Amino acid sequence: MNHLLTLVLRNGSLALLVIGMGMSSGWAQEQDVIAGGKQLFQKFCASCHGSQARGNGPLSESLKPKPANLTRLSANHRGSFPFWQAYRMIDGRDHIPSHGTRDMPVFGIWFRIPDDEVSIETEWADQVRGRIWQLLSYLESIQEP
Ligand code: HEC
Repeated sequence: MNHLLTLVLRNGSLALLVIGMGMSSGWAQEQDVIAGGKQLFQKFCASCHGSQARGNGPLSESLKPKPANLTRLSANHRGSFPFWQAYRMIDGRDHIPSHGTRDMPVFGIWFRIPDDEVSIETEWADQVRGRIWQLLSYLESIQEP
């Protein structure tokens, strides 16, 4: 990386090239993150929230209250996606009875960082944050007016 930087500093046109490359791959990266989130959603959430996230998964019949329609999160929050609120619901800090307890969420340990000082610094914790971020990116991408 340092090597690249020196090159860039010495040669202005290369800097433009590097910036140009960054821009063209940005969209692809966004799509990767969203695709990752979609996969996680199908695996951990669709049984209740439905494969289109509209709240009508196979388990929804037997649940009370019914699973939320997750394509309406923004619409229910005056048009802006409630990122952190949804984050806390997924990682269990805001309790949703149907999601199970924080210690035993229905979707397992994949979105949970144990509450102790050691755990928040671990590689696992970073992976958990990455998964939640991907899920939220996916949910944000499917919001409907
Ligand atoms: C066992 C069924 C079940 C599973 C699995 C499940 N949910 Fe839920 N979820 C519910 C129910 C039921 C509600 C509605 C609770 C209520 O209205 O009080 C809900 C509510 C929510 C809400 C709050 C919506 C709002 O309008 O405030 C979010 C966000 C959410 N779920 C995200 C997820 C995500 C992301 C996953 C997968 C990681 C997931 N849920 C997995 C049953 C489930």
